[in-house]
Amino acid sequence: MNFTLVSADATKAKADVLVLPVFDNDLSGKKSTAQALLRADKKLKGLLLKTAAQEGFKGKADQTFVLQTHGKLPCARVVLVGLGARARFTPEVLRLAAGRAVKAAGRVKAKTAVVQVPVVRELDYALRAVVEGFGLGAYRFERWRTQHKDNGSAKVDKVQLVLPDGLKKEKAHDEVLALAREVVGATNWARDLVNEPAGTMTPRVLAEEAKNMAKDVGLHIAIGDRKKIEELKMGMFLGVAKGSVEEPRLVHLSWIPTDAEAAKQAPVCIVGKAITFDSGGLSLKPSDSMMDMKTDMAGSAAMLGAMRVIAHLKPPFPVHGFFGACENMPSGHAYRLGDVLTSRLGKTVEITNTDAEGRLVLGDILSWANEHKPAALIDLATLTGACIIALGNYLTGAFGEDDQLMFDVLEAGRTAGEELWRLPITELQKDALKSEIADMKNAGERAGGAINAALFLKEFVGETPWVHLDIAGPSQSPKERGYFGKGATGVGVRTLVELVRRRAAHLQAHAG
Ligand code: BES
Ligand code: MN
Ligand code: ZN
Repeated sequence: MNFTLVSADATKAKADVLVLPVFDNDLSGKKSTAQALLRADKKLKGLLLKTAAQEGFKGKADQTFVLQTHGKLPCARVVLVGLGARARFTPEVLRLAAGRAVKAAGRVKAKTAVVQVPVVRELDYALRAVVEGFGLGAYRFERWRTQHKDNGSAKVDKVQLVLPDGLKKEKAHDEVLALAREVVGATNWARDLVNEPAGTMTPRVLAEEAKNMAKDVGLHIAIGDRKKIEELKMGMFLGVAKGSVEEPRLVHLSWIPTDAEAAKQAPVCIVGKAITFDSGGLSLKPSDSMMDMKTDMAGSAAMLGAMRVIAHLKPPFPVHGFFGACENMPSGHAYRLGDVLTSRLGKTVEITNTDAEGRLVLGDILSWANEHKPAALIDLATLTGACIIALGNYLTGAFGEDDQLMFDVLEAGRTAGEELWRLPITELQKDALKSEIADMKNAGERAGGAINAALFLKEFVGETPWVHLDIAGPSQSPKERGYFGKGATGVGVRTLVELVRRRAAHLQAHAG
């Protein structure tokens, strides 16, 4: 999708659709800040506002309205997308609206769009939101369709963004658009990785994808096989990987700044869960819960998407990404209930449920990442069903005891339009992981399951500032919504990119 930015009169531009985002009180004539809307309405002899009102379009944040212009405007159709109340506006509202607009445009077979950027406080964030909303909203996973590929929709491929009246295009805007485009590409790629069935997205293929990406954007990458994992004494990872005929893979990506001083800075390390299929192992999942378990590598997909953008951001500090990829399968080779595994860190773990596999692999990978002495360590994992019960399908659970890093991550998420909610790692629940025969067990009681998982991970990160993001809920969208379709969301990419971008900006501000 190609984006350009102009200062012009949107109602004079030619395209298949003219997209006008409107606040609820833009429709009540007098208070309207939407000049383009009023101009379009005038050219349409008042029919735009009149029919919109008749059809019940009130500019609410979930509403969309399409009208043919019958030659009264250069654009064949006007698409109104509601932004709701101005007082409740955030860039995410605009991102969701842009997603609805591109879907509506596709349904009427539009290939080109002109979009009026609304008058809002922070223009840069609005530009990002429009580009991301359009780019993410146009996503479809169609690799396995041989028929009805596009559901009768067209794909918008040219989008012209029109600045609010009186604003001039600046050079800095190009960088904003360029970053947003990178984020779209990386997020949609992450969605592809997650949507791909587990039968084809094996640990080997996932590592191969990481390698191709690293080559494309110029990141270092090292890939290890089972032998390497044995050498590194990752007994928990090996235990989980044992049950599958698919070979596990260990992946380490890195961005190292060319500047020698910058390269010496303490790195940011990102770890992603990469269970390419989670059957539960011998503690087999029922079919209904197993159905979606190709999604259990969404954490690593988010890390990969973020690293792809970070390679372009070129922050003045190193950033490392890690994952241990394997399948969790039942078989004659599988790890058993009651087995004791020895982690890379030396701690021993009694297996009380083979379906609590993510924390085992992550524990080994986290302690490996921690050997790079990170200034910040972040993991993303589709870790617990309990987190979905606690926060639902749209929020990420954020765990960690370093308040500063937690604050930075929450801020980054809020800015990027990904919602996170802090949950506690309370010591009150520590007994949940006590084992009779080993240092700990891998699964506790059901109560506070997401906390138990975080408590387990905490054993492997020492004193390092660390935030654990449980993305089991938001890794998939249960329905069409804004720029989401049903399926993988690529959650985490935007938060990670924003976190690294802010850290880089902060450092540069203090250096200069
Ligand atoms: N991958 C699952 C968690 C999950 C559930 C992700 C639903 C996405 C959607 C994880 O490995 C798991 O099975 N967790 C168990 C832990 C329990 C056995 C302690 C769970 O949440 O039930
Ligand atoms: Mn599991
Ligand atoms: Zn899992």
